[in-house]
Amino acid sequence: MSNKPKILVSRAIFSDQLAELEKSFQVRSNQADRVFTPAELQKELSNVVGALVTGSERIDASALQNAKDLKIAANISVGYNNFDVPAMSLSGVMATNTPDVLTDTTADFGFALLMATARRITESEHWVRAGKWDQWSIVNNPLGMDLHHSTIGIIGMGRIGQGIAKRALGFGMKVIYHNRSRLSEANEKACGASYVSKEELLRTADHVVLVLPYTPQNHHTIGASEIALMKPTATLINIARGGIVDDEALAKALQSGKIFAAGLDVFEGEPQVHPELLKCSNIVLAPHIASATEKTRRAMVDLAVENLRAALNGKKPPSLINTEVFKA
Ligand code: 8YV
Repeated sequence: MSNKPKILVSRAIFSDQLAELEKSFQVRSNQADRVFTPAELQKELSNVVGALVTGSERIDASALQNAKDLKIAANISVGYNNFDVPAMSLSGVMATNTPDVLTDTTADFGFALLMATARRITESEHWVRAGKWDQWSIVNNPLGMDLHHSTIGIIGMGRIGQGIAKRALGFGMKVIYHNRSRLSEANEKACGASYVSKEELLRTADHVVLVLPYTPQNHHTIGASEIALMKPTATLINIARGGIVDDEALAKALQSGKIFAAGLDVFEGEPQVHPELLKCSNIVLAPHIASATEKTRRAMVDLAVENLRAALNGKKPPSLINTEVFKA
Protein backbone atom coordinates (compact mmCIF):
# COMPACT_ATOMS: atom_id res chain seq x y z
CA MET A 1 0.00 0.00 0.00
CA SER A 2 1.35 3.40 -0.98
CA ASN A 3 1.60 5.94 1.79
CA LYS A 4 1.54 8.85 -0.61
CA PRO A 5 -1.26 11.35 0.18
CA LYS A 6 -4.45 10.89 -1.81
CA ILE A 7 -5.65 13.68 -4.05
CA LEU A 8 -8.42 14.17 -6.58
CA VAL A 9 -8.00 15.72 -10.01
CA SER A 10 -11.61 16.32 -10.95
CA ARG A 11 -11.17 16.88 -14.71
CA ALA A 12 -8.74 15.84 -17.44
CA ILE A 13 -5.36 17.59 -17.40
CA PHE A 14 -2.30 17.27 -19.67
CA SER A 15 -0.86 13.77 -19.24
CA ASP A 16 2.67 14.92 -18.38
CA GLN A 17 1.29 17.17 -15.64
CA LEU A 18 -0.69 14.22 -14.30
CA ALA A 19 2.40 11.96 -14.41
CA GLU A 20 4.33 14.57 -12.40
CA LEU A 21 1.61 14.63 -9.74
CA GLU A 22 1.61 10.83 -9.57
CA LYS A 23 5.25 10.94 -8.39
CA SER A 24 4.15 12.56 -5.11
CA PHE A 25 0.49 11.59 -4.71
CA GLN A 26 -1.98 8.75 -5.10
CA VAL A 27 -4.10 10.43 -7.70
CA ARG A 28 -7.75 9.74 -8.37
CA SER A 29 -7.86 11.27 -11.83
CA ASN A 30 -10.73 11.79 -14.23
CA GLN A 31 -9.05 11.71 -17.62
CA ALA A 32 -12.39 10.62 -19.11
CA ASP A 33 -13.38 14.24 -18.35
CA ARG A 34 -17.03 13.51 -17.57
CA VAL A 35 -18.28 16.05 -15.03
CA PHE A 36 -19.08 14.38 -11.67
CA THR A 37 -22.64 14.54 -10.38
CA PRO A 38 -22.94 16.27 -6.97
CA ALA A 39 -23.27 12.81 -5.31
CA GLU A 40 -20.16 11.52 -7.10
CA LEU A 41 -18.22 14.63 -6.15
CA GLN A 42 -19.23 14.28 -2.51
CA LYS A 43 -17.98 10.69 -2.57
CA GLU A 44 -14.74 11.56 -4.39
CA LEU A 45 -13.93 14.27 -1.85
CA SER A 46 -14.55 11.95 1.09
CA ASN A 47 -11.19 10.21 1.01
CA VAL A 48 -8.68 12.76 -0.27
CA VAL A 49 -6.56 15.45 1.40
CA GLY A 50 -6.49 17.76 -1.60
CA ALA A 51 -8.40 18.35 -4.81
CA LEU A 52 -7.73 20.14 -8.08
CA VAL A 53 -11.13 21.30 -9.31
CA THR A 54 -12.63 23.55 -11.95
CA GLY A 55 -15.68 25.75 -12.43
CA SER A 56 -17.67 22.58 -13.19
CA GLU A 57 -17.44 21.42 -9.56
CA ARG A 58 -19.48 23.22 -6.93
CA ILE A 59 -17.65 23.07 -3.60
CA ASP A 60 -20.23 23.78 -0.90
CA ALA A 61 -21.41 22.34 2.43
CA SER A 62 -23.06 19.41 0.71
CA ALA A 63 -19.99 18.52 -1.37
CA LEU A 64 -17.87 18.76 1.79
CA GLN A 65 -20.25 16.76 4.00
CA ASN A 66 -17.96 13.71 4.23
CA ALA A 67 -14.68 15.41 3.29
CA LYS A 68 -13.15 14.98 6.74
CA ASP A 69 -9.52 14.96 5.58
CA LEU A 70 -9.73 17.59 2.85
CA LYS A 71 -7.32 20.50 3.38
CA ILE A 72 -7.50 22.28 0.04
CA ALA A 73 -9.65 22.67 -3.05
CA ALA A 74 -7.44 24.32 -5.68
CA ASN A 75 -9.52 25.83 -8.48
CA ILE A 76 -8.02 25.75 -11.98
CA SER A 77 -9.73 29.06 -12.69
CA VAL A 78 -9.43 32.65 -11.59
CA GLY A 79 -13.19 33.02 -11.04
CA TYR A 80 -14.39 31.06 -8.04
CA ASN A 81 -18.14 31.45 -7.99
CA ASN A 82 -18.25 27.62 -7.87
CA PHE A 83 -16.89 27.92 -4.29
CA ASP A 84 -19.04 28.58 -1.26
CA VAL A 85 -16.10 30.18 0.52
CA PRO A 86 -17.79 30.57 3.96
CA ALA A 87 -18.78 26.86 3.86
CA MET A 88 -15.22 25.92 2.91
CA SER A 89 -13.79 28.03 5.73
CA LEU A 90 -16.23 26.46 8.18
CA SER A 91 -14.94 23.04 7.13
CA GLY A 92 -11.33 24.24 7.40
CA VAL A 93 -10.75 23.76 3.66
CA MET A 94 -8.39 26.19 1.95
CA ALA A 95 -9.73 27.74 -1.27
CA THR A 96 -7.33 28.88 -3.99
CA ASN A 97 -7.65 30.18 -7.56
CA THR A 98 -5.33 30.98 -10.49
CA PRO A 99 -4.97 34.75 -10.95
CA ASP A 100 -2.40 36.51 -13.19
CA VAL A 101 -1.35 33.54 -15.31
CA LEU A 102 -4.39 33.91 -17.58
CA THR A 103 -4.75 37.69 -17.66
CA ASP A 104 -3.20 38.42 -21.05
CA THR A 105 -4.61 35.36 -22.79
CA THR A 106 -8.11 36.23 -21.57
CA ALA A 107 -7.75 39.91 -22.46
CA ASP A 108 -6.56 38.89 -25.96
CA PHE A 109 -9.65 36.75 -26.34
CA GLY A 110 -11.96 39.50 -25.09
CA PHE A 111 -10.53 41.76 -27.76
CA ALA A 112 -10.78 39.07 -30.43
CA LEU A 113 -14.44 38.52 -29.56
CA LEU A 114 -15.06 42.25 -29.68
CA MET A 115 -13.47 42.56 -33.12
CA ALA A 116 -15.30 39.51 -34.46
CA THR A 117 -18.61 40.87 -33.15
CA ALA A 118 -18.25 44.46 -34.31
CA ARG A 119 -16.98 43.42 -37.75
CA ARG A 120 -19.44 40.51 -38.14
CA ILE A 121 -16.71 37.99 -38.85
CA THR A 122 -18.51 34.73 -38.03
CA GLU A 123 -21.70 35.92 -39.71
CA SER A 124 -19.65 36.76 -42.81
CA GLU A 125 -17.99 33.36 -42.75
CA HIS A 126 -21.37 31.60 -42.59
CA TRP A 127 -22.49 33.76 -45.50
CA VAL A 128 -19.47 32.80 -47.60
CA ARG A 129 -19.75 29.09 -46.73
CA ALA A 130 -23.44 29.16 -47.61
CA GLY A 131 -22.50 30.32 -51.13
CA LYS A 132 -24.27 33.67 -50.66
CA TRP A 133 -21.28 35.77 -51.72
CA ASP A 134 -21.89 36.36 -55.40
CA GLN A 135 -20.38 39.81 -55.82
CA TRP A 136 -18.50 42.53 -54.00
CA SER A 137 -20.76 45.38 -52.97
CA ILE A 138 -20.47 48.77 -51.31
CA VAL A 139 -23.75 48.47 -49.47
CA ASN A 140 -24.91 44.86 -49.74
CA ASN A 141 -22.06 43.15 -47.89
CA PRO A 142 -22.04 42.67 -44.12
CA LEU A 143 -21.31 46.15 -42.76
CA GLY A 144 -19.91 46.38 -39.26
CA MET A 145 -19.08 48.94 -36.59
CA ASP A 146 -15.67 50.55 -36.16
CA LEU A 147 -13.48 49.88 -33.17
CA HIS A 148 -10.84 52.48 -33.84
CA HIS A 149 -11.59 55.85 -32.26
CA SER A 150 -14.82 54.53 -30.76
CA THR A 151 -15.62 54.41 -27.03
CA ILE A 152 -15.15 51.16 -25.15
CA GLY A 153 -16.94 50.78 -21.81
CA ILE A 154 -15.52 48.15 -19.51
CA ILE A 155 -17.59 46.91 -16.57
CA GLY A 156 -15.27 45.18 -14.07
CA MET A 157 -11.83 46.73 -14.04
CA GLY A 158 -9.69 44.04 -12.44
CA ARG A 159 -6.58 42.61 -14.05
CA ILE A 160 -8.37 41.37 -17.19
CA GLY A 161 -10.43 44.56 -17.60
CA GLN A 162 -7.24 46.60 -17.39
CA GLY A 163 -5.62 44.29 -19.96
CA ILE A 164 -8.48 44.99 -22.36
CA ALA A 165 -8.22 48.74 -21.73
CA LYS A 166 -4.51 48.69 -22.62
CA ARG A 167 -5.25 46.84 -25.85
CA ALA A 168 -8.00 49.38 -26.69
CA LEU A 169 -5.52 52.24 -26.42
CA GLY A 170 -3.64 50.76 -29.37
CA PHE A 171 -6.80 51.21 -31.43
CA GLY A 172 -7.13 54.85 -30.42
CA MET A 173 -10.28 54.06 -28.45
CA LYS A 174 -11.62 56.20 -25.64
CA VAL A 175 -11.75 54.01 -22.53
CA ILE A 176 -14.41 54.43 -19.86
CA TYR A 177 -15.01 51.97 -17.05
CA HIS A 178 -17.25 51.13 -14.14
CA ASN A 179 -16.11 49.09 -11.18
CA ARG A 180 -17.03 48.48 -7.54
CA SER A 181 -14.11 50.66 -6.55
CA ARG A 182 -12.19 53.26 -8.52
CA LEU A 183 -8.67 52.45 -9.71
CA SER A 184 -5.74 54.43 -8.32
CA GLU A 185 -4.84 57.52 -10.33
CA ALA A 186 -1.67 55.77 -11.56
CA ASN A 187 -3.64 52.73 -12.77
CA GLU A 188 -6.25 54.90 -14.48
CA LYS A 189 -3.42 56.70 -16.26
CA ALA A 190 -1.75 53.44 -17.33
CA CYS A 191 -5.06 52.28 -18.83
CA GLY A 192 -6.01 55.71 -20.19
CA ALA A 193 -9.36 55.05 -18.53
CA SER A 194 -11.97 57.35 -16.98
CA TYR A 195 -14.36 56.20 -14.26
CA VAL A 196 -18.07 56.72 -14.98
CA SER A 197 -21.36 55.50 -13.50
CA LYS A 198 -22.84 52.31 -14.94
CA GLU A 199 -25.67 54.35 -16.52
CA GLU A 200 -23.31 56.77 -18.22
CA LEU A 201 -21.19 53.89 -19.49
CA LEU A 202 -24.21 52.12 -20.98
CA ARG A 203 -25.49 55.31 -22.60
CA THR A 204 -22.18 56.41 -24.13
CA ALA A 205 -20.11 53.31 -24.94
CA ASP A 206 -20.01 52.01 -28.50
CA HIS A 207 -18.77 48.67 -27.17
CA VAL A 208 -19.61 47.37 -23.70
CA VAL A 209 -17.31 44.65 -22.35
CA LEU A 210 -18.19 42.68 -19.20
CA VAL A 211 -15.31 41.36 -17.10
CA LEU A 212 -16.71 41.40 -13.57
CA PRO A 213 -16.81 38.42 -11.21
CA TYR A 214 -20.12 36.61 -10.69
CA THR A 215 -21.66 37.22 -7.27
CA PRO A 216 -25.34 37.13 -6.32
CA GLN A 217 -25.25 40.96 -6.33
CA ASN A 218 -24.00 40.91 -9.93
CA HIS A 219 -26.78 38.61 -11.14
CA HIS A 220 -28.32 40.15 -14.26
CA THR A 221 -26.12 43.24 -14.09
CA ILE A 222 -27.26 43.57 -17.71
CA GLY A 223 -30.98 43.01 -18.23
CA ALA A 224 -33.71 44.57 -20.36
CA SER A 225 -33.58 47.97 -18.64
CA GLU A 226 -29.77 48.22 -18.93
CA ILE A 227 -29.87 47.19 -22.60
CA ALA A 228 -32.53 49.86 -23.16
CA LEU A 229 -29.93 52.48 -22.18
CA MET A 230 -27.45 51.29 -24.81
CA LYS A 231 -27.04 52.77 -28.30
CA PRO A 232 -28.77 50.83 -31.10
CA THR A 233 -25.34 50.70 -32.76
CA ALA A 234 -23.60 49.25 -29.67
CA THR A 235 -22.11 45.81 -29.13
CA LEU A 236 -22.12 43.82 -25.88
CA ILE A 237 -19.32 41.39 -25.02
CA ASN A 238 -19.54 38.95 -22.09
CA ILE A 239 -16.36 37.13 -21.09
CA ALA A 240 -17.27 37.28 -17.39
CA ARG A 241 -19.76 34.63 -16.31
CA GLY A 242 -23.15 33.36 -17.31
CA GLY A 243 -25.79 35.00 -15.12
CA ILE A 244 -24.19 38.46 -15.36
CA VAL A 245 -26.38 38.98 -18.45
CA ASP A 246 -30.07 38.10 -18.67
CA ASP A 247 -29.66 35.96 -21.81
CA GLU A 248 -33.37 35.94 -22.61
CA ALA A 249 -33.56 39.75 -22.49
CA LEU A 250 -30.42 39.93 -24.63
CA ALA A 251 -31.87 37.60 -27.26
CA LYS A 252 -34.99 39.79 -27.47
CA ALA A 253 -32.83 42.91 -27.81
CA LEU A 254 -30.74 41.36 -30.58
CA GLN A 255 -33.81 40.14 -32.44
CA SER A 256 -35.54 43.52 -32.29
CA GLY A 257 -32.41 45.52 -33.17
CA LYS A 258 -32.21 47.31 -29.79
CA ILE A 259 -28.44 46.80 -29.97
CA PHE A 260 -26.25 45.97 -32.94
CA ALA A 261 -24.61 42.70 -31.88
CA ALA A 262 -23.24 40.60 -29.02
CA GLY A 263 -20.21 38.38 -28.45
CA LEU A 264 -20.62 35.75 -25.74
CA ASP A 265 -18.11 33.33 -24.27
CA VAL A 266 -20.24 32.48 -21.22
CA PHE A 267 -23.92 31.66 -20.77
CA GLU A 268 -26.59 31.19 -18.13
CA GLY A 269 -26.78 27.44 -17.52
CA GLU A 270 -23.85 26.65 -19.86
CA PRO A 271 -23.03 24.44 -21.68
CA GLN A 272 -26.70 24.92 -22.59
CA VAL A 273 -27.27 28.06 -24.65
CA HIS A 274 -30.62 29.87 -24.61
CA PRO A 275 -32.43 28.70 -27.77
CA GLU A 276 -33.42 32.27 -28.65
CA LEU A 277 -29.75 33.29 -28.69
CA LEU A 278 -29.01 30.49 -31.14
CA LYS A 279 -31.55 31.99 -33.55
CA CYS A 280 -29.74 35.36 -33.70
CA SER A 281 -27.37 36.00 -36.57
CA ASN A 282 -25.93 39.16 -35.00
CA ILE A 283 -24.08 37.23 -32.33
CA VAL A 284 -20.70 35.53 -32.00
CA LEU A 285 -20.77 32.46 -29.74
CA ALA A 286 -17.80 30.78 -28.09
CA PRO A 287 -17.69 27.82 -25.66
CA HIS A 288 -16.07 29.50 -22.60
CA ILE A 289 -12.58 29.53 -24.13
CA ALA A 290 -11.17 32.91 -23.09
CA SER A 291 -8.26 31.28 -21.23
CA ALA A 292 -7.91 28.43 -23.71
CA THR A 293 -4.40 28.35 -25.08
CA GLU A 294 -2.31 25.33 -24.20
CA LYS A 295 0.38 27.52 -22.66
CA THR A 296 -2.08 29.26 -20.37
CA ARG A 297 -4.10 26.18 -19.46
CA ARG A 298 -0.81 24.52 -18.47
CA ALA A 299 0.14 27.57 -16.41
CA MET A 300 -3.25 27.46 -14.67
CA VAL A 301 -2.77 23.78 -13.77
CA ASP A 302 0.80 24.51 -12.60
CA LEU A 303 -0.39 27.29 -10.31
CA ALA A 304 -3.21 25.12 -8.93
CA VAL A 305 -0.66 22.36 -8.24
CA GLU A 306 1.65 24.88 -6.55
CA ASN A 307 -1.25 25.92 -4.32
CA LEU A 308 -2.08 22.30 -3.53
CA ARG A 309 1.51 21.32 -2.74
CA ALA A 310 1.97 24.35 -0.48
CA ALA A 311 -1.20 23.59 1.47
CA LEU A 312 -0.29 19.94 1.94
CA ASN A 313 3.23 20.89 3.04
CA GLY A 314 1.97 23.28 5.72
CA LYS A 315 2.91 26.37 3.69
CA LYS A 316 0.67 29.25 2.70
CA PRO A 317 -0.61 28.70 -0.86
CA PRO A 318 0.34 31.64 -3.14
CA SER A 319 -3.26 32.36 -4.14
CA LEU A 320 -5.13 31.56 -0.95
CA ILE A 321 -8.60 33.11 -0.88
CA ASN A 322 -9.79 32.31 2.66
CA THR A 323 -6.61 33.32 4.51
CA GLU A 324 -8.28 32.78 7.89
CA VAL A 325 -8.12 29.01 7.36
CA PHE A 326 -4.34 28.92 7.10
CA LYS A 327 -2.50 28.14 10.29
CA ALA A 328 1.28 28.45 10.02
C1 8YV B 1 -11.69 28.61 -16.71
C2 8YV B 1 -12.42 31.02 -16.35
O1 8YV B 1 -11.18 27.90 -17.77
O2 8YV B 1 -10.56 31.35 -14.96
C3 8YV B 1 -11.76 31.55 -15.15
O3 8YV B 1 -12.44 32.23 -14.34
O4 8YV B 1 -13.50 31.39 -16.68
C4 8YV B 1 -11.72 30.02 -17.20
O5 8YV B 1 -10.40 30.45 -17.36
C5 8YV B 1 -13.01 28.03 -16.32
O6 8YV B 1 -13.57 28.72 -15.26
C6 8YV B 1 -12.89 26.55 -15.96
O7 8YV B 1 -12.51 26.37 -14.64
